[in-house]
Amino acid sequence: MASVAIDPSGTFLSLGLAGKSLRFHAVWLRDNAWDPQTRSPGNGQRLIALREIDPRTRIAAAEIAAGKLRVTFAPQERTIDYDLAWLEANAYDRASGNEIGWTAPDVETWDAHLGANIPVAKFDSVRSDLAARRDWLAKVARYGFGKLENGPVEDGALFDVVDLFGYVRETNYGRHFEVRTEVNPTNLAYTGLGLQAHTDNPYRDPVPSVQVLYCLESSAAGGENMVVDGFRAARRLREENAEWFDVLTSHCARYEYAGEEGVALRARRPMIELAPDGELKAIRFNNRSFAAITDVPFEAMETYYAAYRRLGEIIDDPAMEVTFRLEPGESFVVDNTRVLHARKAYSGIGKRWLQGCYSDMDGLRSTLAWLERLPPEAAQ
Ligand code: FE2
Repeated sequence: MASVAIDPSGTFLSLGLAGKSLRFHAVWLRDNAWDPQTRSPGNGQRLIALREIDPRTRIAAAEIAAGKLRVTFAPQERTIDYDLAWLEANAYDRASGNEIGWTAPDVETWDAHLGANIPVAKFDSVRSDLAARRDWLAKVARYGFGKLENGPVEDGALFDVVDLFGYVRETNYGRHFEVRTEVNPTNLAYTGLGLQAHTDNPYRDPVPSVQVLYCLESSAAGGENMVVDGFRAARRLREENAEWFDVLTSHCARYEYAGEEGVALRARRPMIELAPDGELKAIRFNNRSFAAITDVPFEAMETYYAAYRRLGEIIDDPAMEVTFRLEPGESFVVDNTRVLHARKAYSGIGKRWLQGCYSDMDGLRSTLAWLERLPPEAAQ
């Protein structure tokens, strides 16, 4: 049974709900009214600005009626009904209790133990079956990457992957880019070349938050794809040395790319980016793209470099990495704000042809949230 009590000041009320006492402010309740004068019944958009809510707004009366919280405000007299489940889901009266470096409950960090349990689905099934698409996208959001198998071996098939959740983000590299490698003994530069795990394009702001890589040809041995969870690496750094974590989160690094005519990209962001409340938001790490770091005070620079070196060592630690091979018709999608990727060295002769492009996580999360709201019968 729900109960309600108004504070004598009228500035907030306490709602007793499911054994909890949740306080809500008058101004918050008024701002979050769902009546048709406040919110558009069609699209849910707010129709008023805060300036239209009297700063003196107080709760004049409150009661539980027909399973709803009914509040009457003063001085602008207005009575609004609130859904109790909505209030419970949106309650803010709680201790934060979050540690620096926290992540949302639907994010699961991982290391090499993830092993063969990588998020994988069949290309045809996620295209034709919305429930399968929802489940795969949920895994991509949870783990920061996912693989698709049994797709067509066809020029441009990567765009069909993007169509599953969003839109291509075009850059100076084009709508997509080609990754062609010929591995032969006369070109030893390629045969032994592995890349350090990195995030792509840290010199852009905003950074492209999704990368798609689609394999069309793969006859060379080796060249496996490798991924590292940057959030797990950042947390490990913090566990080892909180000061090192702090120095990387509290100063900006600089990134640049000016490798072609007409392009001079620059960005200034921390290697490990936190929200104001300590949530891990993004990792930017790419040894090829770091510019001179000039935003760290002289006194902190040695600590900064020690922290930067250690983060790199953690990223390079095989205990952090998950590897998988991409065969023709297989692709992978990676959250470029979180998961670092690399290619392992080749060990034989042959060819490899991949196509890559960028997209964004907001589109992926939007598609996922929309699919999660579909009734089960519609998602089949
Ligand atoms: Fe890359």
